Amino acid sequence: MSEILEQTTFLKDVISGLQAKSKRISSKYFYDQKGSEIFQQIMDMEEYYLPACEKSILENESENIAALLKSDSIQVLELGAGDGTKTSIILEKFMVAGKNIHYFPMDISADILKFNQKTLANQLPKLAVTPIVGDYHQTLKEFPKAEEPKLILFLGSNIGNFRPQEAIDFLKFVKECMDPGDHFLLASDLKKNPSQILRAYSDPGGLTKKFNMNLLERINTELDGDFNLKGFDHYATYNPLDGLAQSFLVSLKEQEVNINGKTFPFDRYEVIHTEISKKYGSDELKQLMETAGFKFKKIFYDTNNWYALALGEAI
Ligand code: AVJ
Repeated sequence: MSEILEQTTFLKDVISGLQAKSKRISSKYFYDQKGSEIFQQIMDMEEYYLPACEKSILENESENIAALLKSDSIQVLELGAGDGTKTSIILEKFMVAGKNIHYFPMDISADILKFNQKTLANQLPKLAVTPIVGDYHQTLKEFPKAEEPKLILFLGSNIGNFRPQEAIDFLKFVKECMDPGDHFLLASDLKKNPSQILRAYSDPGGLTKKFNMNLLERINTELDGDFNLKGFDHYATYNPLDGLAQSFLVSLKEQEVNINGKTFPFDRYEVIHTEISKKYGSDELKQLMETAGFKFKKIFYDTNNWYALALGEAI
């Protein structure tokens, strides 16, 4: 998508989101250059346990995952691949297990895919890598059918940003793009001690606040907005009943904000909803896969059972 078009969609979404009865802006807009940098820092912080869990499962279970994939030659497609550092773990273990792998990282960012390709060329020089730039809804649908079966990866607990119905629709879409015998590996954070989850989205150091507030800065610079950052605060909740962690920006006073010539009034303590990060139970994950039409195969856990990789097969 061209930069101008992208800008227009962003502006349209911000305007309709702030005109809604309950104000909201999608978490997909967090990730400009600065937001992506802050997210990298979040992944290194102690409270944000998710990446370490995922890494340990990839290190300890990749061989067992490989054993469930019968074919010796596999096309590994990764949706929202990012920089590929964590994926290199599973790919290396697969190769050691004797699998012949062709890796197709898919991402909307051409820059990150260049980085991905360099990382993998360094770490796994023998691996065949074909980066595919674009929205994975498009690139996955258009991916040509081959002899070898596919393994589709959706890592990073990115499924958490979907509402439960959106998650089902997303999995159904992925399933539609698969052939019988192909596999899907889905990473998800799990329900656990609510205090631990809340801390991950409300760190005392304020990095998550910085991440959330960057959205307002982005609107200011890209959409000619005049949000006064001091007039807003970050607030996160976690509901252990439905497993939804949610993030908000709170207006600390009655105020007006102008964006691209339009005015948006805020009541004192009115919120903008910015993100959901859904936590699943094991049964729920299995259910999700089966509802989407997959044959559920197995869930792989870290030693604490905090995080899961769920494997499903297309039938
Ligand atoms: C990238 C969607 C997995 O929801 O945990 C981190 C993003 N938001 N801290 C998540 C995020 C606040 C993250 N995901």
